Amino acid sequence: MKNEIEQFQYLTLQETAEEKSTDFIPKNFDDYLGQKELKEKLSIYTTAAKMRNEALDHLLLFGPPGLGKTTLSQIMANVMQVGIKICSGPMLERTGDLVAILSGLESRDILFIDEIHRMPSNVEEVLYSAMEHFRVDVIIGQGAGAKTVNLPINSFTLIGATTKSGMISAPLRSRFGIIERLDFYTQEDLCQIVLQSSNFLNLKISENSAMLIGKCARGTPRIAKKILRRVRDFAQVNNENIADDKLVEKALSFLGIDKDGLNQIDNLLLKKILENFNGGPAGLETLASLIGDDAETIETVYEPFLLRQGFLEKTARGRQIPYKIQPYLKNKYFGQKMIS
Ligand SMILES: Nc1ncnc2c1ncn2[C@@H]1O[C@H](COP(=O)(O)OP(=O)(O)OP(=O)(O)O)[C@@H](O)[C@H]1O
Ligand SMILES: [Mg+2]
Repeated sequence: MKNEIEQFQYLTLQETAEEKSTDFIPKNFDDYLGQKELKEKLSIYTTAAKMRNEALDHLLLFGPPGLGKTTLSQIMANVMQVGIKICSGPMLERTGDLVAILSGLESRDILFIDEIHRMPSNVEEVLYSAMEHFRVDVIIGQGAGAKTVNLPINSFTLIGATTKSGMISAPLRSRFGIIERLDFYTQEDLCQIVLQSSNFLNLKISENSAMLIGKCARGTPRIAKKILRRVRDFAQVNNENIADDKLVEKALSFLGIDKDGLNQIDNLLLKKILENFNGGPAGLETLASLIGDDAETIETVYEPFLLRQGFLEKTARGRQIPYKIQPYLKNKYFGQKMIS
């Protein structure tokens, strides 16, 4: 089961080389579709900072995977015409790693740290004085002769990205001047993203089919684009450059996404709640062990979409399937015989 889950996550959530090499990548705010309010705010902040010739305030971006945090940060660097260094929290194992990166930054550059909540605490502490005073403490020498030297660094903007805002420590959080959240995209926004990408890929697709992809993409551009790439594959082997609903449906079933936009793990989760808890409530840990995944993945990857689509609700006693949707799901998983 675990293997199947890992493979599935690879298929739908992780950034892949294919994504990097063939995708349309938005380079400015106009090409970055959706997230209207956030985009407006960030566009004003970056333009103002650029006019003042100053580094932008430190920014914490949080939101589920694949919603465009990295892309947005790259756009901000483009708009401000500054460099951007990209690294991730778990990659920064020792304080020296971070000090080396910080001291290599040019004035006003952006340092983007993905999964910032997974940075070791001693490395995180280096960030405090860097963010606040643009200085880092470096230890020179060893043993009794070791001394701490305070080195100045260029002013920079830290953009921290995280899927789990609750796991950012209070001292780190308080040093961010701007804290913003990315929301799931609407079906219409995803439809526009699909049309934009298909145009780039030279694939003709009707608005109807693009809407169908938008419906099944879990509010996530990365998944919308992934579905589109499979549609394109099917169109190619059929020797066509026009994609219709039939090809979209084929691609969806290939990726294990059904007409409700649910994947195998979503369906397994809902089925277990019906089967073992008669619709719930069920504790998160119990559910995790039932489907063979960890509670954190369920909470960050699967649950947000199920909650948003009304397939699941959170109560004080656990996760529950809303009463009004239960007959539909019972029929879907068990046929007429289970409907009560
Ligand atoms: N608003 C958007 N318009 C068009 N394409 C987008 C948009 N947002 C994201 N994308 C595309 O979706 C894919 C995922 O975006 P990105 O890597 O920036 O997400 P992320 O939030 O950083 O994900 P992760 O949490 O996994 O690091 C990329 O191919 C990107 O080009
Ligand atoms: Mg990213």
